[in-house]
Amino acid sequence: MIAGILKEAGNEKRVAMLPGEAGLLVRMGVKVIAEEGAGETAFASDSQYVEAGAAIAGRKEVLTGTDFLLSVNPLPENEIDMLDAGRVVCSSVNPFTAGTWLERARIKGLTVLALDLVPRSTLAQSMDILSSMATVAGYKAVIEAASLLPRFFPMFMSAAGTIRPSRVLILGAGVAGLQAVAIARKLGAVVEVFDVRSAVKEEVKSLGGKFIEVEGAREDESAGGYAVEQTAEYKEKQQELIQKRAIAADVIIATAQIPGKKAPVLITGDTVKAMKQGSVIIDLAASTGGNCELTENGRTVVINGVKIVGKSDFPSDMPSDASKMFGSNVVNLMKIMISKEGKFDLDLRNEIISQTCAVHNGEYVSPMLRKILNIK
Ligand code: NAI
Repeated sequence: MIAGILKEAGNEKRVAMLPGEAGLLVRMGVKVIAEEGAGETAFASDSQYVEAGAAIAGRKEVLTGTDFLLSVNPLPENEIDMLDAGRVVCSSVNPFTAGTWLERARIKGLTVLALDLVPRSTLAQSMDILSSMATVAGYKAVIEAASLLPRFFPMFMSAAGTIRPSRVLILGAGVAGLQAVAIARKLGAVVEVFDVRSAVKEEVKSLGGKFIEVEGAREDESAGGYAVEQTAEYKEKQQELIQKRAIAADVIIATAQIPGKKAPVLITGDTVKAMKQGSVIIDLAASTGGNCELTENGRTVVINGVKIVGKSDFPSDMPSDASKMFGSNVVNLMKIMISKEGKFDLDLRNEIISQTCAVHNGEYVSPMLRKILNIK
């Protein structure tokens, strides 16, 4: 089998596989070809890929001369037609918005492995790019907030007097939110957390955060551990309590999301106006509409002295470790698809493979994707 590592387009600085992980594939009996300059923005040179046992080639050769194409973001749609039927493409896909891309790949007869469809289970944890990238985002969001805040995070007892610790409010305690709790605590801040899922209460406490409960949250076991939309009554109660805690906070890290839906608005314009000047809001849900009413995706705006950073692409700002984690997840996934002789074997009886396989042989395979696309 020949695997190709593509250079990403646009502002993306990550690469799907760094030389270290490419070397692991080579040891598994896979021939690897990296596109010229693929690792440049993640600080990996072509010569490092060659040292790891990979070859370097131009984009056209990687697109047409490999069996298994790897990228962080989906291949540009116009390049799908350059690929022969039966070729495998493996990247994140964003199944909720990629309808036309997936349909084109299906018609073309490609096999699509959608890394964002890897099941969120203990067994598949080592292959879960959503968790890896959320870990990076949660960490980087706190670092960004600490650098923008005109105050210290920790309490300081100095000859110039005592300085109180900053208060950090975290909205949503999924993977990114919990990572943000851990880092903000390490930096010495006082941390409060809101989530609709009561299951995270103990995790928040064990990381040293205070969980603020709003009674009457809707939880749905069939949502696979994800949050579901809340009732109007709950939203009103939650917004009141968030406003109170937001006014006391110096930093808000907002991470609340509902898969396939617009992010819930948890911080209203009035709440922002009531916050202390100099406070910082980092809105990681910016690309799905934002948890703050005044967030602008991809921009930082200042309202009444409060900085609102609308940023959902922090992993691209930490391309070395983000790419390392991404590539490790891919290698772990490939381990269950590659035989001892280095041959690709798509065993759809394996649940992780069938959940991750978006399209194969002209059919939509992943049960989760079929549900999203409403295919019976
Ligand atoms: P996410 O990015 O979909 O959402 C972030 C957080 O926002 C979630 O905790 C969610 O409950 C919360 N949220 C949504 N609406 C909210 C609202 N109105 N107010 C306050 N909070 C709200 O979550 P992520 O990080 O992708 O995790 C999703 C699920 O997957 C979690 O249950 C997590 O434990 C599970 N998971 C399981 C893994 C495993 O078993 N190996 C690995 C990773 C995640």
